[in-house]
Amino acid sequence: MTWLITGGAGYIGAHVVRAMTEAGERAVVYDDLSTGIADRVPDGVPLVVGSTLDGERVARALNDHTVTGVVHLAAKKQVGESVDLPLHYYRENVEGLRVLLQAVTAAAVPSFVFSSSAAVYGMPSAAREGALVTEETPCVPMSPYGETKLAGEWLVRATGRAHGLSTASLRYFNVAGAAAPELADTGVFNLIPMVFEKLTEGVPPRVFGDDYPTPDGTCVRDYIHVADLAEAHVTAARRLAAAPGTDLTLNIGRGEGVSVREMIDRINEVTGHTLAPTVTPRRPGDPPRVVASADRIAAELAWKAKYDVHDMITSAWEGWVRLRPEARRG
Ligand code: WQD
Repeated sequence: MTWLITGGAGYIGAHVVRAMTEAGERAVVYDDLSTGIADRVPDGVPLVVGSTLDGERVARALNDHTVTGVVHLAAKKQVGESVDLPLHYYRENVEGLRVLLQAVTAAAVPSFVFSSSAAVYGMPSAAREGALVTEETPCVPMSPYGETKLAGEWLVRATGRAHGLSTASLRYFNVAGAAAPELADTGVFNLIPMVFEKLTEGVPPRVFGDDYPTPDGTCVRDYIHVADLAEAHVTAARRLAAAPGTDLTLNIGRGEGVSVREMIDRINEVTGHTLAPTVTPRRPGDPPRVVASADRIAAELAWKAKYDVHDMITSAWEGWVRLRPEARRG
């Protein structure tokens, strides 16, 4: 099989490329390098620089490399930015997907894996009651970003049904860590890098609210190691290839909640820092608790996460220090 991995020069995409090639699949990266980094693409893996909005270039890449499946990760993914730039997010994430799917169906490529997000659930009511978020939990996205992912799932599923395309929408929970320091996330948009940044500056990390209805008052999330997430893509992609007509929607999480305060304590343990966090007001739109039920993916694909929060923090810190030699253990 040859898989076209859109966004394969990005943080998560590069991990998927690595997992695919390690599993013996051929990979071709398609990335506009707007946030992707060409150096993340391993030697021997072709890189086609282009946007998914450029249907002709996509079609040529599918044809030139005799692509037999697509894993689509190329997208904009910042929730706050999507509130300010909804037109941009709908264009990149929904129109980009539509153009890509048009090329995929025209070329009769049979398998399509779509990178979705727990953001499709918004403020899950199940989570408020302390339950796990299943794939049946109603999807009520709270941001244009989440809307584009939900609309993307609809588009993928409808196209799959109409054109005989095997599809999987993978709903990522809170992705963290790195399989190698050079593959680490370079953005500072999520809890772990944001805490690292504060520790590097020598100032206390921030807790955005400690008056939530959770055991320690801080928000609870389901953190998943990016290497586990990448393995899930390989497993899903192979299932689609083996079973035409498949249509999967799967959470990718560990089914284990970790609070912001617990996370900061673990980060301090790993990095040797001792700065107590400062509590600031709540960040608008943060749900108190979002923890996946990972039962369906275990049942459907026999996939289960291998890594824990300690592995995520340790590997993320190695990547952080590699890029910022001034960052030291406390
Ligand atoms: C986690 C928790 C913060 C920084 C987002 C998207 C989601 C998905 C993953 C793409 C929250 C708290 C954070 C800090 C803090 N993205 N926090 N201090 O918001 O759960 O999910 O990224 O698909 O769609 O919404 O992740 O890492 O931003 O925050 O207290 O300095 O950490 O308030 O409770 P989030 P996050």
